[in-house]
Amino acid sequence: MRIKYTISIVFFVALVIIEKENSIISRVSDKLSLKQTPQTPLHSSGFSHVLLKQNVSLNSHNKMDSASMLMKRRLENYSDHQEVVGRGKKHILLLATTRTGSSFVGEFFNQQGANMFYLFEPLWHVEKKLTLETGGTNATVAAKAYRDVLQRLLLCDFSLLEDFIEPLPVDHVTAALFRRESSSSLCEESVCSPFIKGVFEPHHCRTRRCGPLNLTMASESCLQKEHRVIKSVRVRELETLRPLAEDPRLDVKFIQLVRDPRAVLASRMVAFEPKYRKWKQWALGGNVPIDDDEVRKLKGNCDNIRMSAEIGLRQPLWLRQRYMLVRYEDIARFPMKKAEEMYEFTGIPFTPQAKSWILRNTQASKKTSGVYSTKKNSSEQAEKWRFSIPFKLALAVQKACGPTLKLFGYKSVSSKEMLTDKSISLIEDKAFNALWT
Ligand SMILES: *[C@@H]1O[C@H](CO)[C@@H](O)[C@H](O)[C@H]1NC(C)=O
Ligand SMILES: *[C@@H]1O[C@H](CO)[C@@H](O)[C@H](O)[C@H]1NC(C)=O
Ligand SMILES: *[C@@H]1O[C@H](CO)[C@@H](O)[C@H](O)[C@H]1NC(C)=O
Ligand SMILES: *[C@@H]1O[C@H](CO)[C@@H](O)[C@H](O)[C@H]1NC(C)=O
Ligand SMILES: *[C@@H]1O[C@H](CO)[C@@H](O)[C@H](O)[C@H]1NC(C)=O
Repeated sequence: MRIKYTISIVFFVALVIIEKENSIISRVSDKLSLKQTPQTPLHSSGFSHVLLKQNVSLNSHNKMDSASMLMKRRLENYSDHQEVVGRGKKHILLLATTRTGSSFVGEFFNQQGANMFYLFEPLWHVEKKLTLETGGTNATVAAKAYRDVLQRLLLCDFSLLEDFIEPLPVDHVTAALFRRESSSSLCEESVCSPFIKGVFEPHHCRTRRCGPLNLTMASESCLQKEHRVIKSVRVRELETLRPLAEDPRLDVKFIQLVRDPRAVLASRMVAFEPKYRKWKQWALGGNVPIDDDEVRKLKGNCDNIRMSAEIGLRQPLWLRQRYMLVRYEDIARFPMKKAEEMYEFTGIPFTPQAKSWILRNTQASKKTSGVYSTKKNSSEQAEKWRFSIPFKLALAVQKACGPTLKLFGYKSVSSKEMLTDKSISLIEDKAFNALWT
């Protein structure tokens, strides 16, 4: 009697959990735009079917055994997850595209303090190596590599990233990690091997001079931190990161940072001048040919950003309470308020150290240094593009990115006067955050 009772409870739990997974799968599977390797839930879908039909044969011992074995393993995974959540470890991916202020917003987290492991664009290495080896044109291959590297890094495992670093690290030591100095945690004393003059290229950590980076040390430091944040501008579609949200070892949240595509184009034309030569030419004379590759690329980028946001805002189960959309313009206007909201969303404590960094770096400062600088009067900066982009190009962006502008609440302009009239705001007040609370 007693044994039977226990078994039926286990069974009930099994059904509930498996059913929950099924509903996740059926909601999202038809929307998967990217072929992924089969995941565990896909297998369980078939299994639960059998399970439900076999209600009558509950006394079949073989089936019972395999069911309870599977259940046991699932529950083990489940309690692993609980343990992670219980310990309060947070894994945040800050996803953006170039020239959207992601370095600046990344600093909000990088400056959090001793309990933060922050990485600045590790996927730079991945893109670079894929481009060298394959021309980098296969988006599916790139998306998988990005996903796998991010997953391992969130677990403090640098081994997969190492395969992409050029030159290959020797004994897990590299002098070539991209923008190491942008990660406070990679410049801490415990991760700073001695700098020997004349032997190594100096590594310009902001606080100290270090020798090459020992990735074993980096990993050890990472494991000791409560929170991990990775910023990247290379993930094209949020959906490709779904396995990370479903990984029971992680408690992943996504912050998608967006910016007015007209402003992004204006900024890129300055920062990446050679690549944007065509846009410069169009600015000087003639028409913008809508069937040009450059225009198609712009449209493709806008569509990816919009589709990612649409999935996030739709809140499928796998993303529930794991997605937040932030507009750069709102951060520029209300940096402290938005930082508070982001920290609240992540569940990471907003430290006085982080607050003070934001205060110092969002006030007027005449000493701006270079196009990558984050130290600017942010609200003034956010509007500057309106005077640098020719109306013609603004129109071209509006044509290519119409639905994107609309979703994020960026007003289209109908004349040159409207574009440069600062009394007309081009940003509609729009609350996206209501959707994650
Ligand atoms: C399934 O099992 C439950 C509990 O033992 C029982 O009440 C129910 O009638 C069964 N359903 C079918 C379709 O056999
Ligand atoms: C438990 O988790 C591991 C790693 O996350 C996974 O490989 C395995 O398939 C999971 N087991 C079950 C039964 O879900
Ligand atoms: C991309 O790579 C995948 C996997 O190797 C392959 O199946 C696919 O055909 C490739 N796509 C293109 C456009 O080359
Ligand atoms: C890197 O750090 C690890 C852990 O501190 C240490 O065991 C290893 O010897 C270091 N590697 C090198 C090449 O110094
Ligand atoms: C930053 O620029 C804006 C817009 O020009 C201006 O209103 C604001 O006063 C400036 N902020 C500071 C702290 O000077």
